[in-house]
Amino acid sequence: MSADSSSGDGALPRNAPPGGNGPLDPQPLVAGGPVPGDPNRAPAVRDMFARIAPGYDRANQFMSMGIDRAWRRIAIRELGASARGDVLDLCAGTMDFTAALAGGAKSVVALDFCAPMLDAGMAKIPAGANVRTICADARELPLPDASVDAIVIGFGIRNVPEPERALAEARRVLRPGGVMVVVDFFRPTSLAQKFFAGTYNRVVLPIVGGLVTGHSSAYRYLAGSMAAWYDRPGFEGACRTAGFGAVTGRELFPPVASIVIARVGGVA
Ligand SMILES: C[S@@+](CC[C@H](N)C(=O)[O-])C[C@H]1O[C@@H](n2cnc3c(N)ncnc32)[C@H](O)[C@@H]1O
Repeated sequence: MSADSSSGDGALPRNAPPGGNGPLDPQPLVAGGPVPGDPNRAPAVRDMFARIAPGYDRANQFMSMGIDRAWRRIAIRELGASARGDVLDLCAGTMDFTAALAGGAKSVVALDFCAPMLDAGMAKIPAGANVRTICADARELPLPDASVDAIVIGFGIRNVPEPERALAEARRVLRPGGVMVVVDFFRPTSLAQKFFAGTYNRVVLPIVGGLVTGHSSAYRYLAGSMAAWYDRPGFEGACRTAGFGAVTGRELFPPVASIVIARVGGVA
């Protein structure tokens, strides 16, 4: 796991697949369901997450075999001292990051545009924790400029159409010296990534996700959304274009997920 900073320049066409759709999933999977890469897919994405919300955590446990917990610990470590300030869990879903951060942060806002996902996570939040949930779109954050110290985005931004707008919003609400940490599945580039991601996408996600939640089409969409998405250097470039200073990233282990750390100020 070596840290490396990329030379991505933020130009979407260079590192994002033209037209958005990759080889895994160019089709709408159910009538009215989201299409990977479709710029107008937000309502369909929200409905899809509302359908899988009750079984989301159970499916996650089976699919990641607990590895996501290690990825989350790494992400929180990368937030550094900022994790003790005002933190925004963006695309919070069932609030695993919120719950992990709640004890040490001054405050945590868990923001997601799918209320059933937030509802499904409420039981994880310790009583008395300074946690606020907001149901809103990541492309239009109802938060003042420079109002948070840290942002964490776990497996969420890939689902946001116009992710560049969400990045610009993230940059806007961060204070000087703030940090954004993104953990996600990016379009694979190395052979190892292609092998692991291919197996995960074609086998684990649709079969296990489908069995546990009863919605295999949703998990086929999630698999397809990785192919229709930035590779990591391309995403790092998009962070720079959004106004972040120092941006670094690396693969996590196993090489299915990656982490990107984007700071306000500084040079990569
Ligand atoms: C795969 S879940 C990840 C949840 C959580 N962050 C985690 O680490 O498990 C993705 C979440 O992103 C949310 N999401 C997708 N697009 C969004 C948008 N435009 N604005 C806000 N939330 C969005 C979905 O509702 C869903 O809860």
